[in-house]
Amino acid sequence: MNWIFGYGSIMWNPAISYSEVRKAKLSGWARRFWQLSPDHRGTPAFPGRVVTLVEKADCDCWGLAFRIEESQWDKTLEILDEREKNGYTRHFLEMNLAAGSEELCVTYIARDTNVSFSPLPSAKETALNITQATGPSGSNTDYFLRLRDTLESLQVYDEEIERLNKAFVEIDR
Ligand code: SIN
Repeated sequence: MNWIFGYGSIMWNPAISYSEVRKAKLSGWARRFWQLSPDHRGTPAFPGRVVTLVEKADCDCWGLAFRIEESQWDKTLEILDEREKNGYTRHFLEMNLAAGSEELCVTYIARDTNVSFSPLPSAKETALNITQATGPSGSNTDYFLRLRDTLESLQVYDEEIERLNKAFVEIDR
């Protein structure tokens, strides 16, 4: 079976044809706002920040798995390769479907070797960057809120989102 695992915008805006969607997790990976976005949620002059995955023992990254029919598979990868072209590469990983089996999936990860990989030392700096950026796909704050709402609707606790939520409150004061 062909699965795409999404943990960022692919969750709320897959824009691909799929026959089934399931909550799923990748074990040993953590979601981080460490990838600069000069093309979707920012500009080359003022990049925003989008999520990528970093390896972290004892951590699960929950997201959504989309099942793709064989006839749609090549087209799906073509669409996602284009959309995720700023630093993300395809990775073939084992995921766990919620209350289900282990399956192989393709997920897009921006590794630390790409030029847009840019961790910031604090959640406050990250939140400030997010509040100030906007790009062709919309504001960076909108990206954050959609991610937060999607995870909330899936009843997923995420440490990065919690840290950033607190930082947004702090910079709002
Ligand atoms: C994903 O959604 O799985 C990748 C990151 C993004 O496009 O936001």
